[in-house]
Amino acid sequence: MNASSSTGPDVRPVAPFTFVLHGAAGDLARRKIVPALAHLAHDGYLPPDSRIVLAQRDRLSVAEALAQQETFLRDCDDAAACARLGALQPFLRTAAITLGQPEAAAVLAEAVRGGPQPVVHYASLAASRFVDLIRAIEPVRDPARLRLVLEKPLGFSGAEAAAIEHELAAVLDEPQIYRIDHYLGKQAVQNLLALRLGNRIFEPLLTREHVASVQITVSEELGVEGRAGFYEHSGAIRDMVQSHLLQLLAIVAMEPPATLEPDALRDEKLKVLRALRVPATSGTPEVVIGQYAAGHVLGQPVPGYRQEQGVAPESTTETFVAFRTEVQTWRWAGVPFLLRTGKRMPQRLAEIVIQFREVPRQLFAPVGGAWTGNRLVIHLQPQDRIELQLLAKAPGERERLRPVSLDLDFFDEWRVPVRDAYERLITDVLRGRLNLFLRRDEVEAQWKFVDRLKHDLGSCQVEPLPYPAGSYGPPAATTLALRAGASWAEDSRL
Ligand code: BG6
Repeated sequence: MNASSSTGPDVRPVAPFTFVLHGAAGDLARRKIVPALAHLAHDGYLPPDSRIVLAQRDRLSVAEALAQQETFLRDCDDAAACARLGALQPFLRTAAITLGQPEAAAVLAEAVRGGPQPVVHYASLAASRFVDLIRAIEPVRDPARLRLVLEKPLGFSGAEAAAIEHELAAVLDEPQIYRIDHYLGKQAVQNLLALRLGNRIFEPLLTREHVASVQITVSEELGVEGRAGFYEHSGAIRDMVQSHLLQLLAIVAMEPPATLEPDALRDEKLKVLRALRVPATSGTPEVVIGQYAAGHVLGQPVPGYRQEQGVAPESTTETFVAFRTEVQTWRWAGVPFLLRTGKRMPQRLAEIVIQFREVPRQLFAPVGGAWTGNRLVIHLQPQDRIELQLLAKAPGERERLRPVSLDLDFFDEWRVPVRDAYERLITDVLRGRLNLFLRRDEVEAQWKFVDRLKHDLGSCQVEPLPYPAGSYGPPAATTLALRAGASWAEDSRL
């Protein structure tokens, strides 16, 4: 079953544009945004008269900025992006801007003067700089032509996000604002939408009548990677749950929208986000937080979180969280949704496991005593793969069932390299497509859930449990899943 043949790369050049990358010397810009632009330039997406301005504090020539970028990419072994930086050079300019200073607006105006429209400002900045940026672009805004891209997180709480939104709303209209959650740019997430909305097979089964539990895991083998300054304030709940995990949950649980128009999709996600029950932190707790201790990841010894540079020796920041929630709607009431994310886990993995209920009366006997079929697994990372785990009759005379797997790997299927999420999202901004970006009320609903969870954890004085780096988190997370009548995927892989 290989349809590889017909699908070449889907290259549709965009119209000329001006793109100002704020925070161009920062980690995210160098690791993700500049490489994405370099790949797009190399693959012919960018029209020749477009302009890309690398905006940062230091005054650098284009050659100096490129040399620094190249050194950075070499250090993180990104040879492919390194080789493509040359394709980006013709588009580049630099600008030395210190946001917050009175002359920032004039420098910015000069950087974009005479460049093609639309003008996209990409804020690859800490949220504390967003308001300064908004004020700097205000004098040169052109409501029809200006777009602003904001990286997550929008602050560290709902109140901080609201203050930023207030400033934004005074300057820009909602359709000019592109709030990024880069998980929505992953091809696997778009495949998830296609699986749900393009096929009839699963949709009628995704209800409380048929689903026993849903689990979502995003695990990383990486640690805090020099980002302690950010992570100490954020932790796993604000960094990962507030955005990526809640968005994945919303896409899995939403009602089919009437169209794929941005607001139709976002309306449905919003209903799910507003219907989420905040997990209990007292009584029988429905949330477990953890912090990695020293251990081994991929065979290498690694230090514990408290030994990482910039982390306080007594830090109580959580690097792992697992919790049970519920989507309180007619479709999902009573179905446990188990979400989990952590750093320094055994592998980089993102997956959604939909566990269907057993048949009402089982006529067969399981091989080995356990039933592990009836499960749809959507693998988002490292591969983009959909797996249907079924029970089949084991060979032999006896009527015994054994789990088997139907597996569809999208790379094997299409044989087209998967584009990085940021390439997809940047081209969407350039085309003015808002589908894969968050609306203000979605972010508000996400913060409301997270603020309440953090508050409850604080009032119950819940401290993170240690877990060795390279493990799947504290054992209490296993108990949490068992109490919901489920088991985490690694405890029951085929
Ligand atoms: C970011 C988080 O949003 O997502 C990081 O701030 C995390 O802490 C990263 O490492 C994970 O993204 P991906 O695409 O590698 O799964």
